[in-house]
Amino acid sequence: MRITEKERDAVYKTIFSRRDVRSDFTKQEVDDDVIKRILTAAHHAPSVGFMQPWDFVVVSDTGAKKKIKEGFDQSNATSKKMFNEEQQKKYQQLKLEGILEAPLGICVTCDRNRNGPVVLGKTIKHEMDLYSAVCAVQNLWLAARAENLGVGWVSIIEDNILRDTLGIPENIEIIAYLCIGYVTKFKDKPELESAGWLPRRSVDKAVHYNKWSNDN
Ligand SMILES: Cc1cc2nc3c(=O)[nH]c(=O)nc-3n(C[C@H](O)[C@H](O)[C@H](O)COP(=O)(O)O)c2cc1C
Repeated sequence: MRITEKERDAVYKTIFSRRDVRSDFTKQEVDDDVIKRILTAAHHAPSVGFMQPWDFVVVSDTGAKKKIKEGFDQSNATSKKMFNEEQQKKYQQLKLEGILEAPLGICVTCDRNRNGPVVLGKTIKHEMDLYSAVCAVQNLWLAARAENLGVGWVSIIEDNILRDTLGIPENIEIIAYLCIGYVTKFKDKPELESAGWLPRRSVDKAVHYNKWSNDN
């Protein structure tokens, strides 16, 4: 099956206009069939040895979201202190989650023991299962963008909060907590770029030919 030029352009449009979204969520509900589509897209991510180590916990319960938000608030207060004074001023102006505003949360997990102790492709680099679960997150993120749904990744939270709130067992690794919902807009640039936190590195600096180059 060949991808047409129009379809190719739609893929690039989706990639370049995807944003991490923490505000601008609307109250519009997300239909179950839309959720199913983006989760099915996530489930079709590549995975080491076809291990498919992920699971998805869909969170709509307000009580659960409140507990997760409290966990974020605690971790965020600790995290802020790790930066220098000047950075802290900027940090506190950033909105780094949309847990309560987003109609849905999705916790993406990784079962590191799925399909037994020896997995094709994971024999030397054991962390490949974690990377596979992250591929599922990216598929979800792009599929959501194609559905005009905003997604925000919240990582400033201790695993035990998500574990306790969502009943995730100790042997299951937590990969991501995502806030999901329709939004009033997708910003043109990453918020961290607009806020002057960091600029986008040029792609030319990121690419090396044949050998690593420190001149980039
Ligand atoms: C692994 C990972 C964890 C992230 N955690 C957070 C987070 O806790 N809070 C936040 O505001 N953004 C988080 N982000 C979003 C990044 O800040 C964002 O992707 C980056 O600034 C680029 O912006 P863009 O996604 O809109 O292109 C995370 C992104 C990734 C990939």
